[in-house]
Amino acid sequence: MDLRKRVARWKRDGRKTAVVPTMGALHEGHLSLVDCALQHADRVVATIFLNPTQFAEGEDLDTYPGSLDTDLAMLRKRKAHLAFVPAVSEMYPAAFSTSVSVKGPAAARLEDRFRPHFFTGVATVVTKLLNQAQCDYAIFGEKDYQQLMTVTQMAQDLDIPTRIIGAETIRETDGLAMSSRNAYLSQEERDLAPRIHETLRQAADSLRDGQAVPGIQRRARASLRKAGFKVDYVEARNAVTLAKPENPAAEPLRLLAAAWLGQTRLIDNIAV
Ligand code: PAF
Repeated sequence: MDLRKRVARWKRDGRKTAVVPTMGALHEGHLSLVDCALQHADRVVATIFLNPTQFAEGEDLDTYPGSLDTDLAMLRKRKAHLAFVPAVSEMYPAAFSTSVSVKGPAAARLEDRFRPHFFTGVATVVTKLLNQAQCDYAIFGEKDYQQLMTVTQMAQDLDIPTRIIGAETIRETDGLAMSSRNAYLSQEERDLAPRIHETLRQAADSLRDGQAVPGIQRRARASLRKAGFKVDYVEARNAVTLAKPENPAAEPLRLLAAAWLGQTRLIDNIAV
């Protein structure tokens, strides 16, 4: 099936269309992106593609969780109209020679500092998926906030006519942001994991109280370390550019964190 033809037919019939890119291992967070897509569009395609170019050697490409049958059943139940599940050879044929490299939010020294390959892999595959689908809207979760800002910048810079929409993070009842990688956590780690969100909320309160950013970041990192995390970063950034805030009281701020529990790397962020 040719995805572009299928979407073009929907558009010819006067339908608004949306695409929800995923890597499979679907959970309620992904399904909420489908819900969001259905609020904007009459026809929704979800893509499932475990994109090798956004994984570095030694990362979890080979062990990434997920079952295609379960994913497809979940998408059907949630009323997505189409699932697009390309093979690696279809997305990256032998002669594939292009990559899309984004600066700005993709070079904010957050995720990119620890996963330098990541955003080029994401930007390349998302460019391909958006070009293939040519939908009116594309939905990305705020859970991967730097990714959302990167894709937004890229679509703007490359004149991609699909409108990028960010959808709110879906959390477990104890505050842990839903993620396919939560499946890696042991029970003990799972019990500790909501501390990331708790810590971000405390830090957001301190920011709203007007306390200085460096002290807030330091205390948040120390508190996570004390709880047993290995911390990559906890940072307050400008919510649009992801630059370090110059005037925190007058800028929209976002708090972002990444930390390890054992072998599992968790990321989260909240608005201030
Ligand atoms: O967020 C993800 O699942 C992936 O990074 C994406 C956007 C589907 C690109 O592979």
